[in-house]
Amino acid sequence: MNLETLLSTPLAAAFEAVAGEPVDPAVRASQHADFQSGAALAVARKLGRAPRETAAEVAARAGLAGLAEVEISGPGFLNLTVADEVLVSLLAEPDAPPPITAERVLIDYSGPNVAKELHVGHLRSTIIGDALARLFSWAGHDVVRVNHLGDWGTQFGMLIEHLADLGGPTSEFSLGDLTDFYRQARVKFDSDDDFRTRARLRVVALQGGDEPSRAMWRRLVEQSERLFVADYERLGITLGRDDFAGESSYQDQLGSVVDELRARGLLVESEGALCAFPAGFTGRDGEPLPLIVRKSDGGFGYAATDLAALRHRVVEVKADRLLYVVGAPQSMHFRMVFAVGRDAGWLTGPATAEHVSFGSILGPDGKMLKTRSGDTIRLSDLLDEADTRATSPEVGIGAIKYADLSSDRRSDYVFDWDRMLAATGNTGPYLQYAVARIRSVLRKASIELGAITLGDPAERRLALTVLGFEPAVAAALECREPHRLAVHLHEVAVAFSAFYERCPILASPSRLALTARTGETLRLGLDLLGLPVPEAM
Ligand code: ARG
Repeated sequence: MNLETLLSTPLAAAFEAVAGEPVDPAVRASQHADFQSGAALAVARKLGRAPRETAAEVAARAGLAGLAEVEISGPGFLNLTVADEVLVSLLAEPDAPPPITAERVLIDYSGPNVAKELHVGHLRSTIIGDALARLFSWAGHDVVRVNHLGDWGTQFGMLIEHLADLGGPTSEFSLGDLTDFYRQARVKFDSDDDFRTRARLRVVALQGGDEPSRAMWRRLVEQSERLFVADYERLGITLGRDDFAGESSYQDQLGSVVDELRARGLLVESEGALCAFPAGFTGRDGEPLPLIVRKSDGGFGYAATDLAALRHRVVEVKADRLLYVVGAPQSMHFRMVFAVGRDAGWLTGPATAEHVSFGSILGPDGKMLKTRSGDTIRLSDLLDEADTRATSPEVGIGAIKYADLSSDRRSDYVFDWDRMLAATGNTGPYLQYAVARIRSVLRKASIELGAITLGDPAERRLALTVLGFEPAVAAALECREPHRLAVHLHEVAVAFSAFYERCPILASPSRLALTARTGETLRLGLDLLGLPVPEAM
């Protein structure tokens, strides 16, 4: 049971008795006391009574004796100071996930494109998506991770043709750096008419199932997947090969998607293309906006594949909830895909879909993060740089991930090595350092841990802060916002540091126990965010 629930439950009952209807007591952590509720103000206004008197009546009825001391403050706030014994007994329990109704939650994240290495644009999706996957699993949901790899499309014509020029599927040529490979293919495509024609024919051959073309395509996809998996391992991302379901895997379902949409009367032919026009989407000129399902050349694109994926995920995978962790620029795409999915009858009943959108990573100049020469930065290069700048790979990776997870995902953030690697402030290294320090204190201790008692205000503050873990996790889940947990962990580390400065730990069984308990919370929290925890720093 978490502290806020413990206080809210009797207060809610007392408020209801006074108001004659259910009232949210809105118990919040506060500067003035441990917690505060301002709900009496609104209730009194409604009843036409004096707020302080209303607050006093609620306090009397709530019977918080033994749980918390209540004081009426200001115009009618209830200030709550929790009894030390309550804090101590809650600390004796390990951190538990908030109560939930378990669902099958499918999380679509990372989604890099084949033959283009994972770049920083996919970094946020990968980091945020993985933190959400960890959080939802820990909460008890049945999490299905999906990597919607961009492994299909017209660009494969030129890529395969380039591979064919180099000797075909079994050529000894190393595909080690697919970015260069992609560039070379692109140069030929842009400058060589003959190559361009061959590339176009190659797309047709690939889509028609031509075996040599498919063999070369497979080689490109496999090589890409190997590189992605290597990056995921380095980053501590829980996406495995089994979670890969690329765009290609939906190709045989596109025909029936068209059939179903057509049967429901959702498709309109427009300039040779088949389009859906979901209600409520209009362009600047007020014209209805199309979602192109089949292009005029008969080919299928990104939207059609997402419609097939949506149907598959709800109907076959039986997911209750779909979370798409993708950047903000694709918000219109997803709103339209979800709308068509609802019109088609796929996204119905309890099943819901949500675009978990996020802002961009900016360079120091405030523009999209790029290399000096203006290219997009490859993730593996970024990780190499983290290794050279940080004291260890764990610290480098932790810094990158924490910088992302600690800011509100909807905002852009500036990628700044110095700031994210700083040993103080709201950074990954600061949190990792707190854990390492706790470990070292516990290693040095020569006495046993004892029962926790809370004498010093810094001890009490730390206890209260640690107990804020469950509400922080609940908020992170509820809002799909990992930063709610990240910010909480930072508060714990700050409270620990204040405690450490003030209170000699090594000679006190109680303080050692409080230190150990703090360490457990921090380690669990870092793990839920996917941050590595170095043994020592
Ligand atoms: N490959 C896409 C891109 O790079 C992201 C895929 C996101 N997921 C999806 N179901 N569309 O933009």
